[in-house]
Amino acid sequence: MAKFITFEGIDGAGKSTHIGFVADLLRAQGLQVVTTREPGGTALGEALREVLLHQKMHLETEAMLMFAARREHLAQVIEPALARGDWVISDRFTDASFAYQGGGRQLPLAKLEALEQWVHPHLQPDLTLLFDVPLEVARARLDASRTLDKFEQEKAAFFAATRAEYLRRAAQFPERFRIIDATRTIAEVQQELTQIISSLSGKQSGKQ
Ligand SMILES: Nc1ncnc2c1ncn2[C@@H]1O[C@H](COP(=O)(O)OP(=O)(O)O)[C@@H](O)[C@H]1O
Ligand SMILES: [Mg+2]
Repeated sequence: MAKFITFEGIDGAGKSTHIGFVADLLRAQGLQVVTTREPGGTALGEALREVLLHQKMHLETEAMLMFAARREHLAQVIEPALARGDWVISDRFTDASFAYQGGGRQLPLAKLEALEQWVHPHLQPDLTLLFDVPLEVARARLDASRTLDKFEQEKAAFFAATRAEYLRRAAQFPERFRIIDATRTIAEVQQELTQIISSLSGKQSGKQ
C-alpha cells in the first residue's frame, strides 16, 4: 500500500537536503513517488506560501492560511497520489502547524486540533521523520546558506518552543515518528534514512 511520509524539523535541520535522497531510495525499489512541500504543493498553495513567508499577519490568520493551503494540497496532490498507489513525501505537514503556530507562536493547540479535524479528519502520515538539531546548529546552517524568510528570522526562543513542540508530538505519537539526530554529517543521516526506509518497505511487502 502507498505510504505518506512527512519531513519535519526546524528551519536549517536538513529536511530539504534529504528529501530527494529518500525519494530515490523508494524509486530504486520500483515505487512511484511524489515529492511535495508545505506551505505550497499546488499553484494556489505556492501563492499562499509567498504571502505566509513574507507578510506579517494575525496569528490565527496565519494558522488558517496554512490549513487552507493544506486543504488544497490534500485535494489536488496528496489524496489523488495515494489513491493511485503512489508514495507521497511532503516537506512539512500538520505537525509543522502545531510546532510553529502552536509551539513557536503559542496559539492554543485546541484551535489547531479543530483545524486538523476539519481539513484531514481521517488522514495522518504513515511515517514522520523529525530532523532534530539544537537551535545553534540550525542557525549556523541557515546563516551560511540563504536569505532568511519571516519564520527563519524569528528569535532563539521561538525556535526553542517550536523544537520542543515537535519533540512533544514525537513522544505523543511514537508509532509514526522517528527522531533523526540531524547534527551528524549528511552521509551519516543518509545511512540511517536508508535503514528506516528499508524496514518500512520490508513491512509493506510483509503485509501483501
Ligand atoms: N547534516 C548536515 N551537516 C551539515 N550541513 C547540513 C546538513 N544537513 C543540511 N545541511 C545544510 O544546512 C542548510 C540547511 O539545510 P536544509 O535542508 O535547507 O534545511 P531545512 O530544509 O530543514 O530548512 C543547507 O545549506 C544544507 O546544505
Ligand atoms: Mg527546507
